[in-house]
Amino acid sequence: MRLLISFALGVSLAAGADLPRFSDAGELAFPENYRDWVFLSSGLGMTYGPAAAMALENPMFDNVYVTPAAFASFKETGKWPEGTMFALEVRFSTSQGSINKGGFYQTDIAAVEIAVKDTKRFSTGWAYFDFSGGLRPRKQTAKELGQNSRCHSCHTPNGAVENTFVQFYPSALAIAEKKGTVKPSYRAPAPSPVRAFHDIREKKVGAAQLLNAAQELDRSAPVVKESTLNMMGATLLQGGDKEQAVAVLEWAVSAYPHSANAQDSLAEAYEASGNKDKARAAATKAKELVRNDSSLTAERKQRLEKAIEDRLGRLK
Ligand code: HEC
Repeated sequence: MRLLISFALGVSLAAGADLPRFSDAGELAFPENYRDWVFLSSGLGMTYGPAAAMALENPMFDNVYVTPAAFASFKETGKWPEGTMFALEVRFSTSQGSINKGGFYQTDIAAVEIAVKDTKRFSTGWAYFDFSGGLRPRKQTAKELGQNSRCHSCHTPNGAVENTFVQFYPSALAIAEKKGTVKPSYRAPAPSPVRAFHDIREKKVGAAQLLNAAQELDRSAPVVKESTLNMMGATLLQGGDKEQAVAVLEWAVSAYPHSANAQDSLAEAYEASGNKDKARAAATKAKELVRNDSSLTAERKQRLEKAIEDRLGRLK
């Protein structure tokens, strides 16, 4: 009985392995079930190629899938095994339909493109296929687009793991980072606010060091925005991480020297740390700044002025 079951399982695993199938003429058969593969991510309105010129009012979604057995192996090694297949499904979007009032949802297929890894069949190891779009992909089989195609000229130098754009697939990127398979040529962007918060709180890196590096990479990165820094400081403070809160807010004040709000947040962090002198100095500075801070609404200004007065009162 046990033998029979494992035999049956063996057969179904092989059948479910989703290996690429090629016709006698060497064309790739369309993998009808690609929507059952492992979903890696959706890009919305990404503009990195010629499609950018079209700048559609309704952005396109692209959905990326990879064969399940290949992803299982990637989780172990951070590398794509022989026979890996990826599908990039591009879909039109709309905001008009049913109860929807804003934002976009996906509609018909604009194109399905497939990438295959097969180092014996293809000189660079990877090959690209375009099955086009329509209500369903038009072609049943597709020819390889050639080792000099534009697909290669973008994927080969820019993919973060082998030829693939793992940098845009968060769960796969985390695996590749852990396994050390991200290409050295890949330059990571400034950390997201969530990652920065985590690394600062866990003291993996000093706040100033992290924020300086992020700003050097991208002055407009979300993590160095004043609102982000204020929120990060406040959350650290709430969690009792006073030292890190002070470090983040000191950085915010040096990056946004005209912001009354940043100064007051810093005063609050000093006050919470029991550093009365510094708290008083920061609150006094905030009081000076608040009058000329044009980024504040009248109402916000009033509330901030009151908070500063209260703070100065407490710190007497
Ligand atoms: C200018 C750069 C560029 C060109 C040219 C390009 N791609 Fe891509 N491709 C990308 C990016 C960026 C992604 C990631 C998409 C996402 O995050 O949604 C991607 C993703 C893919 C994927 C998903 C697997 C992977 O490698 O990450 C496939 C399959 C794919 N492209 C096929 C093609 C085919 C076929 C062609 C040629 C007809 C092509 N691409 C041309 C940039 C390019």
